[in-house]
Amino acid sequence: MRIAMIGTGYVGLVSGACFSEFGVHVTCVDKDAGKIERLKRGEIPIYEPGLDELVARNVAAGRLSFTLDLKEAMAGVDAVFIAVGTPTRRGDGHADLSYVYAAAEEVAANLDHYTVVVNKSTVPVGTGREVQAIIRRANPDADFDVASNPEFLREGSAIGDFMRPDRVVIGTSSERAAEVMRRLYRPLYLIETPIVLTSLETAELTKYAANTFLAAKITFINEIADLCEKVGANVHDVARGIGLDGRIGKKFLHPGPGYGGSCFPKDTLALVRTAQQVGSPLRIIETVVDINDKRKKQMAERIVAACGGSVAGKTIGVLGVTFKPNTDDMRDAPSLDIIPALQAAGATVRAFDPAGMHEAEKLLPGVVWTQDAYGALEGADCLTILTEWNEFRALDLKRIKTLLTQPVMVDLRNIYNPEDMAAAGFVYSSIGRPA
Ligand code: UGA
Repeated sequence: MRIAMIGTGYVGLVSGACFSEFGVHVTCVDKDAGKIERLKRGEIPIYEPGLDELVARNVAAGRLSFTLDLKEAMAGVDAVFIAVGTPTRRGDGHADLSYVYAAAEEVAANLDHYTVVVNKSTVPVGTGREVQAIIRRANPDADFDVASNPEFLREGSAIGDFMRPDRVVIGTSSERAAEVMRRLYRPLYLIETPIVLTSLETAELTKYAANTFLAAKITFINEIADLCEKVGANVHDVARGIGLDGRIGKKFLHPGPGYGGSCFPKDTLALVRTAQQVGSPLRIIETVVDINDKRKKQMAERIVAACGGSVAGKTIGVLGVTFKPNTDDMRDAPSLDIIPALQAAGATVRAFDPAGMHEAEKLLPGVVWTQDAYGALEGADCLTILTEWNEFRALDLKRIKTLLTQPVMVDLRNIYNPEDMAAAGFVYSSIGRPA
């Protein structure tokens, strides 16, 4: 089989590489000439464990290639995937669909045989029908169907999530398109992955429902964590105690500084807007959005409190700035709220991140970036953990005490144990656990 993948961002590049691993011939297309050049040289523009080897292997096998030319990419394909960005539209919180619609126009101009046009981008309900209408208007004789195939992969574990997903969701408008999609995902049928075959609208909404549900789950445990602190309970035991109930499930009950990243903040907002627009408001998600926005800001107040009520003239050592570990992605990272708030309160911030500093430098002016974790702690009055990178889990605590002016640690990811930290002589605070 043969497909074209429009967009070499996170979803496009990972999905393209993974489909080629399934044995499909994949041509990835992008408008960014520099990016295509780099990909042709084997340079991967994003940080994702395992992606470089996967790309190299499939390029070498002749199944994966990169081009600027959509016409060339669409020659003889069974399906063309649209995997372009759908960022928040400035001003109203809706998803900005201009890249999706522009891609649809270009697809229309190059359709010369039956092709399934698949939306892999996260798009509001109704976008598939609109893509169908755009193509029909631009190319009335085109032989095509539109499908929706939302992607559920997580950054940092994207390849595993694609290759061994909990499920695949496919929305189509015809049996012919469904058959093409089944053939593409054949390797997943063989490992008995549940496939939800449904309508375009249902598939589109399922993606948003999944992300907003997970965002709500995180927000729920964050609020329970705050309550734990007030009443002397331990949020991890609460999470385990409820998560072992199969109806609730253990995952996504880890408290923290609030969810970030390229998906949850954008998708929660977009679904809220869609729901308001059609007169069926999602009040739970409206509240989730509000709580999470405020939470990120409140985290700076925690750090100030741990420093005795003021950080003016003090130095804060920050470990981790990306929205989560194993990525260099800074989009909507809690650090983008927390660090400027500390600086505004008069603090100097020294920081280290294993992969995110290149991007973070542009977004967080005034931060002193260091070569390693210990560098960030030199002369600092407080150590703050914002992202749970593995390399921060086993720091040399004795050495840290010699670097800090006072042994104060604020662990917003709960990667240390309060008892151990007390024994090591730290004034330690974390989320939702008795000190
Ligand atoms: C998320 C979803 O998990 C994917 O299924 C989905 O495909 C993706 O969005 C998308 O729509 O493209 P991702 O944003 O890569 O994936 O990252 P997550 O691992 O879900 O983490 C999101 C945020 O929630 C992070 O800031 C993380 O720190 C936070 N989080 C996650 C918690 O605070 N607690 C948890 O228990 C889990």
